[in-house]
Amino acid sequence: MSHSGQFNIRKVRQEFPMLQQHMHGKPFIYFDSAATTQKPKCVIDAMNQFYQTQYGTVHRSVYDFASQATDRYNHVRQSIKEFINAAFVEEIIFTKGTTEAINLVASSFGKAFLQPGDEVLITVMEHHSNIVPWQWICKERKAHLKAIPIDDHGELILEEFEKLLTNRTKIVSLAHIANSTGTLNPIEEIINRSHAKGAKVLIDGAQSIAHMPIDVQKLKADFYVFSGHKAYGPTGVGILYGKRALLEKMPPYQGGGDMIDEVMIASSTYQHIPLKFEAGTPMIAEVMGLGEAIRFLQNLGMDKVAAWEQDLLEYATKRLHEVGSLRIIGTAAKKGGIISFVVDGLHPLDIGTLLDLRGIAVRTGQMCAQPTLKRFHLASVTRISFGLHNTFEEIDVFIHALKEIVLLLRPSMSY
Ligand SMILES: Cc1ncc(COP(=O)(O)O)c(C=O)c1O
Repeated sequence: MSHSGQFNIRKVRQEFPMLQQHMHGKPFIYFDSAATTQKPKCVIDAMNQFYQTQYGTVHRSVYDFASQATDRYNHVRQSIKEFINAAFVEEIIFTKGTTEAINLVASSFGKAFLQPGDEVLITVMEHHSNIVPWQWICKERKAHLKAIPIDDHGELILEEFEKLLTNRTKIVSLAHIANSTGTLNPIEEIINRSHAKGAKVLIDGAQSIAHMPIDVQKLKADFYVFSGHKAYGPTGVGILYGKRALLEKMPPYQGGGDMIDEVMIASSTYQHIPLKFEAGTPMIAEVMGLGEAIRFLQNLGMDKVAAWEQDLLEYATKRLHEVGSLRIIGTAAKKGGIISFVVDGLHPLDIGTLLDLRGIAVRTGQMCAQPTLKRFHLASVTRISFGLHNTFEEIDVFIHALKEIVLLLRPSMSY
């Protein structure tokens, strides 16, 4: 087994206080990074330090702590611009997370660009947060919502995409990596084909941002969104990247402080981007934490993180085949570090509960992706997902535990 990610995994693991914990008396094995990532100490420290010694509001006051907070806050915007290689810093909008970013685009892009009879294209493998906001805006604008189907491997059927993409398609919104099947979508191809038809593209980067290098200019993505808490940062903060020319044409999403230029009783005028989309006192400490998380990832190197997690994925996939009656849901040729599976006759909840007792955290249920699971005629699955701190030894412990659990629940099985 080649372990190509050349960072010092022992040292990396020491950065995470949660990984030093025990669960039910067993060393904690965290295989739920797709839901949310654990936090390195530098992120926790940055937030603590900000609250304890530097706290002040942003964009409002002249006193020293407030102006320093504003400088730091702006600096994080700059470092995120660099991390995803946006062309302009004002293309980076702070949101509460992926969900809010997609709601913002659906609502605002929809109001600006969707006419009755227009079409919005998503895929069958989307997280609910990339379905429901589009349902709402399509209903409001009398537009049609369509979904690109997927095959038995969980890959997009590109011939169907070609048929669904029409001159009426205004936006295509899809996951970079699907949170249920782990499919890594051919987004370059989707973006190029969509642009050729005049449609814009939103990439839901919730599952890609912390797992591979992202270059929004190279991708030519119109929008790219992600959550801080899935990228080793805190909850409550996320990013909407949008091309400047588009964001400038879109109306504000929420009204309040910070986003205005002049307010009269009957009407108001608004700030330019990014502030136009950032109403109210923002999540200041969380932004500081996210800045630290980005620095942490940059120091490790996203190429190395991606290579390490691909090795983990390959190894775990191979070893899961040793477990009897187990079927992996999502066997696309290209995947992120996410493996969903079912075991004949066993309920995912039972598997998850028994893994928990062995110190192993996995996700069970419908993965916030009911249409995807329905496509596979399933109501729930068990999912393991990797972070940069996971190890091959942890996978061995997990496989051993899973075999034990299958034997326990189905004594007729033998290995
Ligand atoms: C692909 C994908 N999109 C969107 C989301 C929503 O992210 P959040 O709940 O952080 O807004 C998730 C979360 O699991 C996800 O995996």
